Amino acid sequence: MSSAKPMASILGTGHYAPKKILTNQDLEKIVDTSDEWIRTRTGIRERHIAERGELTSDMAVGAARQAMESASVSAEDLDAIIMATITPDMPWPSCACIVQDKLGAKRAFAMDVSAACSGFIYALSMAAAYVHAGMARRVLVLGGDKLTGIVNWKDRNTCVLFGDGAAAAVVGLPGEGHDLLSFHLGADGSAAELLCMPAGGTKLPTSAATLEAGQNFIHMAGKEVFKFAVKVMVDASDEAITKAGLRHDQIDLFIPHQANIRIIEAAAQRIELPMEKVLVNIDRYGNTSAAAVGIALDEAVRGGRLKPGQHAVLVAFGGGLTWASTVVQW
Ligand code: ACO
Repeated sequence: MSSAKPMASILGTGHYAPKKILTNQDLEKIVDTSDEWIRTRTGIRERHIAERGELTSDMAVGAARQAMESASVSAEDLDAIIMATITPDMPWPSCACIVQDKLGAKRAFAMDVSAACSGFIYALSMAAAYVHAGMARRVLVLGGDKLTGIVNWKDRNTCVLFGDGAAAAVVGLPGEGHDLLSFHLGADGSAAELLCMPAGGTKLPTSAATLEAGQNFIHMAGKEVFKFAVKVMVDASDEAITKAGLRHDQIDLFIPHQANIRIIEAAAQRIELPMEKVLVNIDRYGNTSAAAVGIALDEAVRGGRLKPGQHAVLVAFGGGLTWASTVVQW
């Protein structure tokens, strides 16, 4: 039993993945790669890809509707919408405002959070803090990205890694749902350029030259990010487990960010969790950025992997660089 005093709880979860699937075999026809390389180096077999007109906000609305249904919460009940994304429909206003309109959540204030793949847990922590502070009672948390819209389809180092999707959770008062026992968040902006989109901001506005140089696509130093990811997933998990007043052997399910199966396996090994206790769905989704850990949570819930009373650790890392973890008692 945890000794931590929960700030808030999860009332329901949901996710959305576009219908269109891109397999490794499809990618073999686009870039110089192979199904064997992608599977063995990343664990990915296929990923869902949004159609051109299928927006980040559309995916978020799909996930939101599922989560609201499972939480028995209507759009009018929502006090706030916090959306984690690095691929909003437009640079601004926020994607959360577009979603607020599409859902008809007229009472809700709305904003985006930019923490790349750590975004879902960042947003969850903010929702918990608003609830804890008495500023909101029902908060819709969203993580959604359409990274396939900003990958360079000529760059085999990155284009094989990503997929599109969205995830949602409705957060309420502690004791009303599944208690959020602890959070740990961090950032290291000195490593911002390891994972970024160089152009399109005020530093390097989009121009013919930036487009020509491929600076409006994802840039990633894969090896450096890999090393950082393993270390930070282990450290962040430890922090959240300790803050929850638990031991590692009291963790029933490890729900990590789905970026690379080798990162997941290395982290699980270091925190001494057998792979039977690890949620892996990267083979079917690839890296869906802010949606990944939320999609994995929702699959764990709907698939019966997370049972009442069990403890799960959610942990993620991403551009920023950022990292985040939380422990939830289901
Ligand atoms: N198909 C075939 N060969 C490839 C491919 C591909 N798709 N991609 C790279 N290669 C080649 C490289 O060119 C290199 O060839 P070379 O030795 O002739 O130069 C060789 O494979 C090995 O490349 P490495 O970079 O050593 O491969 P590595 O084992 O490091 O795997 C990977 C690369 C998968 C990118 C890994 O480093 C990784 O997963 N890093 C972390 C990525 C990550 O987590 N990113 C988070 C982004 S999420 C966000 O916040 C938006």
